[in-house]
Amino acid sequence: MGKPKCRSILPAAPAFAIALTGMVLCGSGNLWAQSVPKQIAVPPPPMGWSSWNSFSNTVDSQVVLEQAEAMVSTGMNKTGYRYINIDEGWWLGERDEKGDIVVDPKAWPALAPGERAGDMSNIVRAIHRLGLRAGIYTDAGADGCSTVGPDLGPSYPHTGSEGHYEQDFLAFAKWGFDYVKVDWCGGDRENLDPAVQYAEIARAIARAEAITGRRLYFSICNWGKNSPWSWAPNIGGVAADIWRTSGDIVAPIVANTRNSGRMASFPGVLSNFDQGIHPEAQHTGFYNDPDMMVVGMQGLTDAQNRVHMSLWAMSGAPLLVGADLTKLSDATLAILTNPAVLQVDQDALGLQAVKVAEPAHGLEVWSKTLSKPGERALLLLNRSSSPSPISVEWGDLGLLSSSSATVRDLWTGKELGVFNTSYSAIVLAGDGVMLLVRSREGMLTSYKASGSGKQALGGHGVAVMKDEPLNFTRVASRTRLARIQIVYANPDNAPRVVELRVNGQVATRIAFPPTGSDNAKGAIWIQSLLDRAGANNALSFSAPCNPGPTIESISLQ
Ligand code: GLA
Repeated sequence: MGKPKCRSILPAAPAFAIALTGMVLCGSGNLWAQSVPKQIAVPPPPMGWSSWNSFSNTVDSQVVLEQAEAMVSTGMNKTGYRYINIDEGWWLGERDEKGDIVVDPKAWPALAPGERAGDMSNIVRAIHRLGLRAGIYTDAGADGCSTVGPDLGPSYPHTGSEGHYEQDFLAFAKWGFDYVKVDWCGGDRENLDPAVQYAEIARAIARAEAITGRRLYFSICNWGKNSPWSWAPNIGGVAADIWRTSGDIVAPIVANTRNSGRMASFPGVLSNFDQGIHPEAQHTGFYNDPDMMVVGMQGLTDAQNRVHMSLWAMSGAPLLVGADLTKLSDATLAILTNPAVLQVDQDALGLQAVKVAEPAHGLEVWSKTLSKPGERALLLLNRSSSPSPISVEWGDLGLLSSSSATVRDLWTGKELGVFNTSYSAIVLAGDGVMLLVRSREGMLTSYKASGSGKQALGGHGVAVMKDEPLNFTRVASRTRLARIQIVYANPDNAPRVVELRVNGQVATRIAFPPTGSDNAKGAIWIQSLLDRAGANNALSFSAPCNPGPTIESISLQ
């Protein structure tokens, strides 16, 4: 798939057909015969491993190779894990007279005949040979985190990319990396503006991609400062794919060092989960990132590891394992690779779970809309200190409240039966029950696009163009956070991009993957804050550059 004209560079996402139910047509007047659009899959959140949590600044070629090999020998790669991400500590701040990064040849030796020691493309080739993808790390400021307070080893300054953005990101792409995480320690210390700085970086990445033809998956790590969920996908250059929403769950726990006694904590996991919930920003391939996981690290029980994994899967979070892959227990490996749970994380709609009920303080019902109509992943979460029943009503999930639903335990795979209107389970203290609920979708109300612009989709769609926004006014929603289906066409072989502004608030970027032709309809889902009561919400879709997709309708409950 080619690159999008509007610089949001998303990988090809296969389209697949589903049947839609319960369409009611209204909005701008005319009733029209709406045929069934194809549900379009969006890029799922990344899955992989990151060096920081278990190796801190001791990361080197041998560590990385062993972890990559373990990802293959454990079979994790077959369940979708594929990024091997090198975090801080790979570079000690040295540059040559041209300003190019110089790495320690002993830490990064030649790994195959003909290679030169001190060349980061050696490790990338080794990772690629295993069928995996390689990630690298830098800081947006002049200095990296080590100068702010080294976790292990000496403080080494100048490990940031400020002043070298174009040079460094081009080097990462030329070395063959597929992924880059950009931290904020230096930027923070210099009191820089993250939206401005990351926009410069986005431009440098776009340029590196254009020169090398390589895609660099872009991960922003500024711990939620200045609300990156409201600007990260819209910064220009390329969109950020994921952005951190909070600080680290735990500082690194490195065997045989002064940090070997640190403990991950379950409250830390819950806190990062809570801070990562911004469902209105997470759709069409852009993801909130609540941090690398600590599943399997010391401090958590197996039950807590299972809840941690449930929370990340419900959130649709990047699944970046922080534990040492060469030392995973059978229980941890089973938790990290449970196919039904991974499927929830990787669901083709790319949405985030929302809290739909809190029957009592600390008793929570989280629901994630899945790509199969009528399906929801549920988490009944008990944060209290005693076992409690937690109930969920089908109506709260946007399913037909009068309809019965089948319920399956996602961790055990056990079918629990057919239930009318609701389900209830006893949930242990500090535990969670993760379920798949299958029923019938509630009714949707559709609003047809109308405008003076170019018509397509058999006369039923309006092309969104740069100076011609497509507006839907007088839109009503039963819930403040609305699930909205958008029916559209995009004949390109790359996504087209639109910015959506709801009630004049900050714009969010939506990527519309290819549908095949001008007349082939696709559907994607987003979640938006429709904060006005009654039919008083206004949605304005505008294209940051031409052409945008052709939009036929929006539908919501
Ligand atoms: C910050 C980030 C971590 C890790 C370290 C490296 O703390 O949040 O994920 O990258 O820096 O120093």
